[in-house]
Parts: sequence; C-alpha cells; structure tokens
Amino acid sequence: MNENLRIAVVGATGVVGREVVSTLFDREVSAEQLTLLASERSAGEELDYGEETLEVEKVSAESFRGMGLVLLATPAEASRSLAHQAQAAGAWVVDVSSAFRADGAVPLVLPGFNSELLETNFKGRVVALPSAVTTALACILEPLRQAFGVAQVQVTAMMGVSSAGNAGVRELEQQTAALLSGRDPESHTFPQRVGFNLVPQVRPFLANSPWTEEEAGWTLECARLFAPRGEVPVVAGTAVQVPTFHGHGLSLQVRLKKPAPVEQARAALKGAPALKVLDSPGEKVYPMPSLVTADPTVHVGRLRSFPQAPEWLTLFATVDNAGRGAALNLVEAGLRLAARPS
Ligand SMILES: NC(=O)c1ccc[n+]([C@@H]2O[C@H](COP(=O)([O-])OP(=O)(O)OC[C@H]3O[C@@H](n4cnc5c(N)ncnc54)[C@H](OP(=O)(O)O)[C@@H]3O)[C@@H](O)[C@H]2O)c1
Repeated sequence: MNENLRIAVVGATGVVGREVVSTLFDREVSAEQLTLLASERSAGEELDYGEETLEVEKVSAESFRGMGLVLLATPAEASRSLAHQAQAAGAWVVDVSSAFRADGAVPLVLPGFNSELLETNFKGRVVALPSAVTTALACILEPLRQAFGVAQVQVTAMMGVSSAGNAGVRELEQQTAALLSGRDPESHTFPQRVGFNLVPQVRPFLANSPWTEEEAGWTLECARLFAPRGEVPVVAGTAVQVPTFHGHGLSLQVRLKKPAPVEQARAALKGAPALKVLDSPGEKVYPMPSLVTADPTVHVGRLRSFPQAPEWLTLFATVDNAGRGAALNLVEAGLRLAARPS
C-alpha cells in the first residue's frame, strides 16, 4: 500500500466506524495516515489505535483536503452531502449507507464478488456497497448459481439491534433493564419495543408499499449485483428486528434451476472461500450469531430439501453485520480504489 495515502474515516465512533478503524489497524495502516471524523456530538472523543490514541474531529468540507480516500460509515442523509464534498476535494469515496445503492451512475461493489468494477472507468469518484444482508445473500447464492442456477430466494432476516447503530444497541440494553425491573420500556429508535419481542419492520416502509426499505433493498441490490452474470434470482423476504446485539440470522429457501441432492449443494458451498459450512446438526453444530462475530466468512448450515420438491434448498446462515457485512467491504473496496493508477 502507498504509505503516502491519507485516509479519512467518517462516522468513526459508530458501530461500523469502530470496526473500520480496527480493520485498518489489522491492514497495517499507520496512525499518521488516518484522520477520524464524526459529527460535533463526538468531536474530541479518543479511540485506541494499537498502542496509540487518535482523536476524533468534527467533519467539515475542509476535512477532505489532501485525502486520497474517504470511507463513509455515516447515515444515508449525511453520506449524500459528505460524498459530494469528498469527491470535490479529489478523494476516492466508498459509502456503506443506502444513499447511492439505487443510483445506476454509482457502481455497487461487493469486494470478492465484483471487485473488477473498481478497475473500470466510471463517472465520479463514489462507490456504493450493498447492505449486510445482501452481502450474505450474494456470498451464498453465487456458488449455488454456478453449480445449479438459482431461480428464486425467499429470505427471513433476523437482524440484531446493532444494525441500527449505537442507538439500537443502547435501546435494547435500556429496554431489557427496564423490563427486568418491572418498568415500562421506552422506544425511540425502533418502531415497537424490541426487548423480549420480535418486530417485523426494519427501517421505514416505502411510500404506498407493503415493503420496507430494508426488504426492497435486497431485491434491488441483488438485481444490480447479479445482472452482469446474466442471471438475476428473484429475491424477496421479511426483515425482522430481533433482541440480539450482534450478527444477523438468515432463514433461506432457495429454488434452484435444477434439482440438487443436499450433499452436492453442501459441496458447492464448501468450495466457496467467502463461506464456512457449519452443518453437523447431530452434534449441535450450526450457524448462530454468537459464533460469527469477528469472522470474515458467512456461516451456512441446516441444509435440507424435500423429495417432493428437490429443486428447493432450505438453509440457515449468519453474518457479522458490522464486520463482514460493512467494515470489511469498506476497507477492501477503499484500499483497492486508492491503489488505482491516478
Ligand atoms: N450497523 C450495521 O450493521 C450496518 C451494516 C451495513 C451498513 N450500515 C450502514 O452504516 C452506516 C453507519 O451505521 P452505524 O450502525 O455505524 O451507525 P451509528 O452507530 O449510529 O454511527 C453513525 C456514525 O456516523 C456519525 N454521524 C452521524 N451523523 C453525522 C453527520 N451529519 N456528520 C458526520 N458524522 C455523522 C456518528 O457520529 P456521532 O458519534 O458524532 O454521532 C457516528 O460516528 C449507516 O448508513 C448504516 O445504514 C450499518
């Protein structure tokens, strides 16, 4: 990596931003190369960086002067204006929010899936990343597509509260404490109480639609990722906010284009470097959110099919939402973009 490259992480104090900072440390980016930014709420906060401590600064358009790479781990509303400021300052920009995922002029890149897009000429200097659930779906569907073809996917995503950032984590802590001590819990971040409950709504509903932004995002992002492969699976499902902190669980029904015995499907998944197959139910070995934290692979298991419908494959998967599903993608896409000849 170019040691003169200067990198700004915006949203460094968030759930994803903290993972980004620790991933950059693992990639041996030096503290001198880094600038950590957030809103004025956390300006002055200090984050550990190995033996060193880095102070978080309040972001402004001036913050991007001299930066080669800007990693945005901010809410979509903030990303929209920050991305334009950063690219105007001449930096490469990678954004993990939903701000640009539907924008056909902005490449949607999942490192390891379609990284080659980072080498192409595109208008502007901004790259969007898919959501954590789409990241997991693409990692699982691609080896199945290559082996059997994939026609359709039904997914129920059970999403831990860290998907709603620091505020989501705090809200589950406070609601759990309140409920265990007989007090009424308050809901600010989630539309309904999530403590000791399941909420079948993640992010707002689209205008005049029964689908939430989260659910519609999977369909759209999978279509964008798979279209160049000439085979777009129909992806639809339900996003459920569950009272766990980290990691998402995905219950999947996949309709393959040709029947596949479970052993063949398992072999196809085992051959994919982005996946880890945990599938020994007799020994109580299967994917769980508690096992996937800090793991850069997506876990898959509980593989099943019915003799009456041998083209349908049922399975369960987990993904580390903030790490594998966000921070890793940001850092990998960003470092690769920054290595482009200018
Ligand atoms: N959490 C996940 O699992 C996940 C997965 C994939 C994608 N994402 C996306 O990643 C982004 C960050 O999510 P998160 O979970 O890390 O949220 P978070 O914990 O709420 O953190 C948000 C970060 O953005 C900063 N921020 C907020 N408004 C800002 C503004 N106007 N200007 C500059 N900084 C601002 C916050 O700074 P302060 O500390 O100053 O408030 C904080 O550092 C979101 O777009 C989210 O949709 C999240």
